[in-house]
Order: sequence, then C-alpha cells, then structure tokens
Amino acid sequence: MSKIILTGDRPTGRLHVGHYVGSLKRRVELQNSGEYDSVYIMIADAQALTDNFDNPEKVRSNISEVALDYMSCGLDPAKSTLFVQSYISELTELTFYYANLVTVSRLKRNPTVKSEIQLRGFNSSIPVGFFTYPISQTADITAFKANVVPVGEDQLPMLEQAREIVRSFNTTYGEEVLVMPKAFLPENQACMRLPGTDGKAKMSKSLGNCIYLSDTEEEVRKKIMSMYTDPTHLQVSDPGHIEGNTVFTYLDAFCKDEQFAEYLPEYANLDELKEHYQRGGLGDVKVKKFLNNVLQEELAPIRARRKEWEKDIPAVYEILHKGSIEAEKVAAQTLADVKNSMKINYFEDHALITEQAERFKAE
Ligand code: TRP
Repeated sequence: MSKIILTGDRPTGRLHVGHYVGSLKRRVELQNSGEYDSVYIMIADAQALTDNFDNPEKVRSNISEVALDYMSCGLDPAKSTLFVQSYISELTELTFYYANLVTVSRLKRNPTVKSEIQLRGFNSSIPVGFFTYPISQTADITAFKANVVPVGEDQLPMLEQAREIVRSFNTTYGEEVLVMPKAFLPENQACMRLPGTDGKAKMSKSLGNCIYLSDTEEEVRKKIMSMYTDPTHLQVSDPGHIEGNTVFTYLDAFCKDEQFAEYLPEYANLDELKEHYQRGGLGDVKVKKFLNNVLQEELAPIRARRKEWEKDIPAVYEILHKGSIEAEKVAAQTLADVKNSMKINYFEDHALITEQAERFKAE
C-alpha cells in the first residue's frame, strides 16, 4: 500500500516553537526519509474561517506567513505538495456527504471542539461551520488517501473522529474506498506539550507567551531570559525544581548531549545539569543562557532560510498555487470514487442507463 502523509495548520498567526517540536520538525524528517510516496502539507484557511469568519484579513495575511515558516523549516516544494485548502472545492463536497455519517451528539463529545467552544465563548450560539469542522478535517485527510497524519496531541480527537467516519463510510458504501488514517505524535513528552514561556500550558498569541520561528535572535534571547522557572528557587544555593520548570521542559525538547561539550562543558548531559539544579547551587541565569545557545542553534538556519524566501514572495504564492492545482487533481479522483460508491454517478454509469432502458422497454 502507498504511504501518504497529509497534515496542516490553520493560518491564524506565525508558527512558533511549539508547532516546530510538536509536528513541523517531524514532517521534515518524514519528508526527507524517502519512505513516503506523497507528502501533502495544507494551509487550512477554510478551517481557520470557521472561527474567524468575521476576520478574513487575518486569515489572508497569514497564508504567506505559514508558507514561509514551512519552507524555512525545510519543507521542500520539490518533495512535498504545499497547498491551500479553500482552493480544493472537492473538500467541501466530501464534507457534505460525510456529514450524513456523524451525529450531533458525537460532535458535541469531541474534546477539542468542546474546549474550543469554551475558549471562544460560543456556548449556546455555536456556528454550524465551526461545529462541523471535524468532518471537514476528515475530508482533508481522506481526499488524499493519507494513512499517516503527523500532528500534535490536541488533534487526536480529530483523528479518532476521522477513523470513525472512514469505518462508517466503508461499511455503508463499500470496503476499502477510504483509507484508514493514523496519527503520528512526537515521541518526546516535552515536544508533545511545549508550554508557553510563562509556564502556562498552551502557547498562545493572545497570552504573548510564544517564541516564534521568525523571531529575531534578540527577541528569542529576551524571551528566554524572562522565562518562568521555579518560583521557590530564590537564591542560587536553594534546591530547585525541574517539574513545571519551563526552562528545563524546553531543554528536554531541544538540547542534545553534544551541546554540553560546546556550551557547558562542566556537565556531560542534561541529567547532570538537572541533578545540580535540584541539589542547589545552580542559578537560573546560567541555565537560561545555555537554553539560549541551544535554541539559537536550532533557529538560526530557519531564520536564514526565511530571510531568503521573504525576498521572493511571488515565488511563495506560485509554489502554493502549483501545489493547489496538483492537490486538486488528487482530491477530484477521490471524490469520483466516493460518488461512485455512493451511487451518485448517474451520467458516468452506463450500465445503469442500459439496465433501466431495458427495464422500461420490457414493461
Ligand atoms: N486542525 C489543524 C489545526 O488546528 C489543521 C488541520 C486542518 C489539519 N485539516 C487537517 C491537521 C488535516 C491535520 C490533518 O492546526
């Protein structure tokens, strides 16, 4: 069976280091592994509009931001198809048919939808478009016959919902029409749930606690130096805590053993650094400076590639346009398969026409 990847992001802001360790870095590795027949990376603008319908400018202006973030991280248009969701009208058509297979109560139980409804204060006035976005996300995945979906942990309920729809569709209309997708999560716990720089569980633009991939060196340094650590670690000599200490969570996500030899040779690895911190006698500033070195090393090439692409924005749009044309062809084929299996292919089904013609003649 072919190995196909599909994943994407809503264009509601620049991407941050949480996106990077949670999914982007893995996508690039998978893309470069040569093990996949196709890699589709989608900018989910239609989905972004489900909760930003009154702010199309926000979505519009972030298409190029997300595309720049993608390519600066190493997603390569020669190896992956980068495209824009709203260009593929087949996706909305698939969504309409899949909607028959999902109940309102099932959508209400989706934990991600539930928490987003609270977050956005929709409560009793939930827009239907927003409420049904898990169905549209199933269309995104199945249209490309993707079996691997690299995402962050928050997307697991979406994948569960997609798998249910696929199962239901195949049972109702014919086995093997739709491909069963699987989520690929980061292996490292810290990467799975990278907190904001203030220690809050989620990085969010409105909280101002994100480190963006496009931040300057100085912005990154400032954010790291004011990061949340251990509020009980007042004096350098005090024993410190690692759990919930953002600086150490970031080190868990980013640092490699070799970087100790280079930046902090008194320690062989992160375990030794943690041990000293817990024992007491290690100051936050020293750990933060180390994290700054580690993170700058990771972000410098990304920043440099971004600067190059920023010089040629028309080329960025051209890549998305070409990718969208290519992606549409694939989605159109799946839609044709779906309509065939649902028996809504009257004008292509010559057997149907002859069979009915015979029947009416015989009557
Ligand atoms: N829901 C994803 C996000 O919020 C974006 C997305 C849309 C997506 N369609 C998808 C992710 C399909 C994976 C597969 O970022």
